[in-house]
Amino acid sequence: MGWDERYGQARQWSEEPNRLAAELIGPLPPGRAVDVAAGEGRMALWLAARGWHVSAVDFSAVGLKRGQQNAPAGATIEWQVADVRTAEFGEGTVDLALVLYLHLPHDEIVDVLHRTALAVRPGGHLLVLGHDRENLTRGVGGPQDLDILHDVAVLGSAAVLGDPEDWRIDRLEQVDRPTATGTAVDTLLWAQRR
Ligand SMILES: C[S@@+](CC[C@H](N)C(=O)[O-])C[C@H]1O[C@@H](n2cnc3c(N)ncnc32)[C@H](O)[C@@H]1O
Repeated sequence: MGWDERYGQARQWSEEPNRLAAELIGPLPPGRAVDVAAGEGRMALWLAARGWHVSAVDFSAVGLKRGQQNAPAGATIEWQVADVRTAEFGEGTVDLALVLYLHLPHDEIVDVLHRTALAVRPGGHLLVLGHDRENLTRGVGGPQDLDILHDVAVLGSAAVLGDPEDWRIDRLEQVDRPTATGTAVDTLLWAQRR
């Protein structure tokens, strides 16, 4: 089932932001952000409520529309229907780039994440969070295709970050995420561009 169809049938996530993402981003001063594969915009809406200017990019017009409908008047969010495999994020243009639960085949995700990392300006932050490969064996939910799941080796690689010297990597690890049906295993990358 495609994403438009899923979003057309029912809300996929709660309106609440991802808890870990909110914990990490919460202390940052607002600036410009890009939410890559923003879905129904739970993070974009939360960021905008805290003064961020957000570009929310997703190829599901139905998902973005739902976010747009939930946005209060004056919310500083640009809803952009685009395929993130080809969308332009610019270079050094944002204070925060986030990619939550976007799962694509290896070469595609590495390319998307690399271009997302390039969009972060010096001093800005990159957050990547998604289902870890080990979620298949000791977690719950998420895609069941090993080839599209994250792991720390890929997220922290030069293929994603470019020169690792350009980054201060604050968190690169597996994290447990409690859910209603059990504990899920995610991969987290949280880094600041030097
Ligand atoms: C699991 S959802 C996560 C949504 C959001 N990041 C969140 O955490 O609430 C995955 C999202 O990726 C989007 N997506 C998948 N492939 C994409 C692509 N090639 N271009 C743009 N969006 C894509 C889907 O439409 C969907 O909204």
